[in-house]
Amino acid sequence: EVFDVMVVGSCMTDLVSQAVRLPKPGETIHGHKFFIGFGGKGANQCVQAARLGAKTMMVGKVGKDFFGDNYIQNFKDSGVHTDFVGQTSEAATGAASIVVNDAGENAIVIVAGANMLLGSEELQEALPAISHAKVLVCQLEINPQTSLQALRMAQESKVKTIFNPSPAIPDLDPDFYRVSDVFCCNESEAELLTGSSVANVEEAYQASQELLKRGCGSVIITLGSQGCVVLKAQEFTPKHIPTAAVTAVDTTGAGDSFIGALAFYMAHYSTMPLEEMACRANHVAGVSVKVVGTQTSFPFKKHLPAELFSEQHISSN
Ligand code: RIB
Ligand code: NA
Repeated sequence: EVFDVMVVGSCMTDLVSQAVRLPKPGETIHGHKFFIGFGGKGANQCVQAARLGAKTMMVGKVGKDFFGDNYIQNFKDSGVHTDFVGQTSEAATGAASIVVNDAGENAIVIVAGANMLLGSEELQEALPAISHAKVLVCQLEINPQTSLQALRMAQESKVKTIFNPSPAIPDLDPDFYRVSDVFCCNESEAELLTGSSVANVEEAYQASQELLKRGCGSVIITLGSQGCVVLKAQEFTPKHIPTAAVTAVDTTGAGDSFIGALAFYMAHYSTMPLEEMACRANHVAGVSVKVVGTQTSFPFKKHLPAELFSEQHISSN
């Protein structure tokens, strides 16, 4: 069986409170809404790819608990293959405490729990599937060495790789760059990795050039309402791909929606220019920002304009 998109990554239960603003240290404030949702960057990216029509498989670990049982059911409901989503009694299902303010901004604390117990053994079992996939996607909410090993396995089998260094760590193993066909991060992650400010398109251009030098295939830096910057290996000039203005209700998981969409396009339209894929992924992520929640806000193919699935290019680049 050949999968379009395989994700080796995290599953988290999102515990979300909406409040006018984010609390300060030591402060208690009233929020106006609380809900529990399915999150975790890996799972989010996988579910977004599935909603666009990709045949997807998740490799991950949840706890042998109520949240873990529910999470596996959520994958099944989303059409994601779960043969390699294990359950452990050694740790609890990962959890994310999230506060979202009225501007749609958030603050998140994650406790990775079971996610950290995903290791080489599980990767070996999944290797036949990984080596036949079209695209493999990894992030940093599991043990980084597990992500690196998965990316290496994919590269050895000529499977296209997307690496999302999120949440960013300052001492990222330099091998991550060499195993990434597309290295995709947001402005704050780019800042942490390069040590320079990434507050506008011009600075994102510079950061993309610095990241590309470290050995990845292409670099994408997402810039929220400003769209993203794309720099391809064969080219020396980065391109700015703007996105349509939207009123942000909840930006949680917008980056995951972007990456899930990118993975879908890389698998289904392998000859499409990266700028065109990024332009379409901007659009998909823009839809997610207008709706509350993480996976709950990710759009399905049937609710998106047909031009996002056509062979005709919509980007002006
Ligand atoms: O990127 C958004 C995700 O980050 C949330 O779903 C939360 O689980 C955290 O992992
Ligand atoms: Na959202």
